[in-house]
Amino acid sequence: MSTLILLRYAAVAIVLAAVATAQSAAQQLSPAAPPTPSSLPTPLMGWNPFNAFGQNYDEHSIDDAAQQLVALGLRDLGYRFVDIDDSWWLRREPETMAIRTNLYPSARQAHGTTSFRPLVQRLHSMGLKAGIYTDIGRNTCSQRWEKTANMPEGTQAQREVGSFGHQQADAHLFFSEWGFDLVKIDACGVADYTSAAAVVRGGTFRAFEPPLIVRGKPAESKPEDLASLYASFWRSAVNATSEHLPIVSICAWGEDDVNDWGSRSGQMWRTSYDVKANWKSVLYNFDSAAPRSLFAGPGRWNDPDLLEVGNGEFDKDHLTEARAHMSMWAVIAAPLIISTDLRKVSPAILDILRNPEVLAVDQDPAGNQGVILSQAQDGETVVKTLSHPGTKAVALINRSDHPLTLSLGLSEIHLSSQAPVMVRDVWRGTSTRLQGATITVQLMPKETALLRVEGTPLENKATFPDEMPARIRVLEDGFKPNDRTPDRQWVPARIGFLPYGEPILHENRQDTSAIGVAAGSRIQIDLHGDFKRIELTPRAMSSAVGTYSIFADGKPIQTRSANGRATVLHVEHVQTLELVAPAGGPDHTSFAWAQLRFER
Ligand code: GLA
Repeated sequence: MSTLILLRYAAVAIVLAAVATAQSAAQQLSPAAPPTPSSLPTPLMGWNPFNAFGQNYDEHSIDDAAQQLVALGLRDLGYRFVDIDDSWWLRREPETMAIRTNLYPSARQAHGTTSFRPLVQRLHSMGLKAGIYTDIGRNTCSQRWEKTANMPEGTQAQREVGSFGHQQADAHLFFSEWGFDLVKIDACGVADYTSAAAVVRGGTFRAFEPPLIVRGKPAESKPEDLASLYASFWRSAVNATSEHLPIVSICAWGEDDVNDWGSRSGQMWRTSYDVKANWKSVLYNFDSAAPRSLFAGPGRWNDPDLLEVGNGEFDKDHLTEARAHMSMWAVIAAPLIISTDLRKVSPAILDILRNPEVLAVDQDPAGNQGVILSQAQDGETVVKTLSHPGTKAVALINRSDHPLTLSLGLSEIHLSSQAPVMVRDVWRGTSTRLQGATITVQLMPKETALLRVEGTPLENKATFPDEMPARIRVLEDGFKPNDRTPDRQWVPARIGFLPYGEPILHENRQDTSAIGVAAGSRIQIDLHGDFKRIELTPRAMSSAVGTYSIFADGKPIQTRSANGRATVLHVEHVQTLELVAPAGGPDHTSFAWAQLRFER
């Protein structure tokens, strides 16, 4: 472990002590290992009630959904996790939590106690997994924002049903006593309960101050404190489970630099606020996750939120949009969580949710999130390298409401035009042999073509960064601007673009083999001894040049002035490579590891 990481742990421990005074000393020590890749090797698939029902559902809705998942064949296609989401609490009690039995009658036990074990056992006996919900603060999102009759009751302390100060007890209850497999941990409790809120002023709730998330204001938020709280829940959850690692789904809506720390405390994290069943919202949530391919891989996934397939502008009268939505989520390896009423779902929508070739794109075992190859106002091309050699999933997205033609050269996806190339349209179910070196599609308004392209690598022995994002991780973001909010397109590290989204150019064309990073950043590339030599051009993106360093398996192999000259690294047997960009300054915020190629 590098000194930097140790220092980081130390800083996290100090912050934790300051924030979570209610936690025991034992919880603050013993850093647990982060989630493993095998704890969620491919993006999660399942069902959640929130988009379908808001807070208006009960145990019957959950049971019905579970039965439908089985009856409609969705479970067998991989949709296994059934979440209960918010609004299940009656009140916190000294040793446990009372469940709202008017909504969950099967939770009623002898002697007036309650337990979710019967519901969890029902789900398990159907071959499904069970997910529960909590908040990282003292109170929840529904308590703050919803006006339903089914809110927690009792004294102020009894209504504090969030996990703050109770991580150990709650994790034990959820995983060990009740047997859940997953917890979604929301964050309204650390964002929306300041003393300025009327419900706090009026005494309904206790203030949570200072808030750890000030929505849209990263400079006023407290990402390290929030990371510590999630880390503390993760450790408690690991301690509470025996056979498998728990699944933790972090719901901090892309705030507080969740990309930095999410993978240490959970297997997936939301990248934006709640998706709505309209085109603009689906594009917005897609955009929040799509540029972040360097943050995803087996065991760590960007989560642009639940599917709206079947709802609103993605219902049976909008199949083009529904297919586009599904294609976008699949090509960026997003969790696929159905959130429509499966009792009423139409056959055409089911065909979309069940398309096995689309699901195979999402669930491809290499775990590469698709990389944006080109992006314009109307059209966008995203390419996901699949595990089968020479095979790519390509999404050609018409974001606009007019027809559009989009093209893609085979060389842009590193395939040869000298060998046969098969193009499979996974929605139309057609396969054609490509004539020429360019794939062209004519798209209807809001249509996405999802293609599986199978050919021969252009260069037999070379691999490029956009073909292996799952092997790359960002260890340190480096320079962070104050406008890095979910609705700004600032991404600390990405392929082909600088953090603010300007394409990285080489000889007037976009260099899609470049990794654009922030000054002072560190990225790690898992080579696993697979490569012999690497070519790259470290390039300062401003007049300030600075010095970069490269480490192989922790040992420095190159420290040079970033003067834009190409260099070669000999990396036979090297497992991990670390690229450290020159430190930043006010006029020097980004850097590019350009023209990267990895040779076997
Ligand atoms: C927040 C989350 C949603 C949902 C609701 C429930 O808004 O982002 O996904 O869980 O809370 O109240």
